[in-house]
Amino acid sequence: MTKISISRESSAGTISKYIYGHFAEHLGHCIYGGIFVGKDSPIPNTEGIRSDVVEAMKAIHLPVLRWPGGCFADEYHWRDGIGPQEKRRNMVNTNWGGVTEDNSFGTHEFLELCRQVGCEPYITGNVGSGTAQEMSEWVEYLNSDGDSTVVRERRTNGRQDSWGVRFWGVGNESWGCGGIMRPEYYADVYRRYQNFCRQYGDHKLYKIACGPSDVNTEWTEVLMKNAAFCMDGLSMHSYTIPGGWDHKNSATKFTEADYFETMAIAADMERKIGLHAEIMDKYDPDKRVGLIIDEWGNWFEVEPGTNPGFLYQQNTMRDAMVAAVHLDIFNRHCDRVFMANIAQTVNVLQAIILTEGEKMVLTPTYHVFDLYQHHMDAKELACAIETGKIGTAEHSVAGITASASEKDGIITLTLSNLSPDTAEEVTVDLKAAVKETKGRILQGRMDAYNDFDSAPLQVEDFSDIRAVDGGLLVKMPACSVAEIRIGL
Ligand code: AHR
Repeated sequence: MTKISISRESSAGTISKYIYGHFAEHLGHCIYGGIFVGKDSPIPNTEGIRSDVVEAMKAIHLPVLRWPGGCFADEYHWRDGIGPQEKRRNMVNTNWGGVTEDNSFGTHEFLELCRQVGCEPYITGNVGSGTAQEMSEWVEYLNSDGDSTVVRERRTNGRQDSWGVRFWGVGNESWGCGGIMRPEYYADVYRRYQNFCRQYGDHKLYKIACGPSDVNTEWTEVLMKNAAFCMDGLSMHSYTIPGGWDHKNSATKFTEADYFETMAIAADMERKIGLHAEIMDKYDPDKRVGLIIDEWGNWFEVEPGTNPGFLYQQNTMRDAMVAAVHLDIFNRHCDRVFMANIAQTVNVLQAIILTEGEKMVLTPTYHVFDLYQHHMDAKELACAIETGKIGTAEHSVAGITASASEKDGIITLTLSNLSPDTAEEVTVDLKAAVKETKGRILQGRMDAYNDFDSAPLQVEDFSDIRAVDGGLLVKMPACSVAEIRIGL
């Protein structure tokens, strides 16, 4: 039996909707084939962008999309991706599979995608192999309405008014694929580059500095000490890689021990955030600078027979549980975590959508984002959870994870049972009589997945919820993620 007490008085603040953000890189079939098929494709599209994928993204109210990378961002030269298609420069994508990048998806196409989805763009500029002038002119091209050669060029390319892009990343993984810099050096480079990313009219940029990987607290310390004054956000990347880089798990064929190792790594995000938040608190006690976890999720072995540089992996209920564990943690830390972007949207790593030619399938991870969407911009409510530990001698985790929020008088509780084989009764103490509830659930075997010919994992109505004195009694099936909407 698990006990959860929800307090309506105690809150970490508002859960930024950007915590439910996503990331799309020029990598494998994320952009090409997954999102962009070109105007002449027989696959239904608007301006070359797949209609089925856009509809799926709209249905979860995807709030923000990061692009063009990832590692790709630091070898991307934005001018290669504007102007007439036939004149666009070709390059080799040296990070991802050595394939030819024809730049047919560039700035205008990305912003058209964001328009169709109704999400905000988050663009990462090139620090590693680009100049401050190149980055500065990209911002001008996007956000200025002045009379300049750069703005006239945009107008010649078909866009009269500025787009007003807000979220702006200054390099990606500058400690690694973005230039293998030392933190002191990057802090100075960041200060210089961001200085020339100007504010045009009302278009104030939210500037995001490259932050640490996992528990690299030295990076956070140096960046916060030397550059916090000129940043709005500090990014952090942390993947869940059971088995480690050299012995990565298969996405679909794994043992219960692998499952619990995966859950333990995912749950460790709480500690990682705590480590960086403590340093950020020291230099920024008012919590002005947001922690931007702009790459997170499972990283498994690629599917057999696929290009190892394309990072294509299937997605099971294990992925759904990892998503739920992370999103609950981000919700709880909404006082510091302002944005998070799961890697990556379509066909890459922990994707929410998989495509194969004209076919598309929604993964269990997608359904978790569907179940969690009412947390966006809601007031977080503290949840005290008393639950048993489950797992192996090496890797044990809390059996139940949860988070709660309130908006427009309705409480949303997301609740997950991490046990792969045992149902769990959960009492939810709200200190108030419950008038009505509405539940939805995703459940399945830990290694079950949706494929193009059969998609058994779908969100269903959930009614194993009973009002009891001052709260609820919920019976959570094994390996399940639920959303319960509560009216008091
Ligand atoms: O998401 C795949 C890659 O992982 C990104 O390009 C990079 O930033 C990270 O190392």
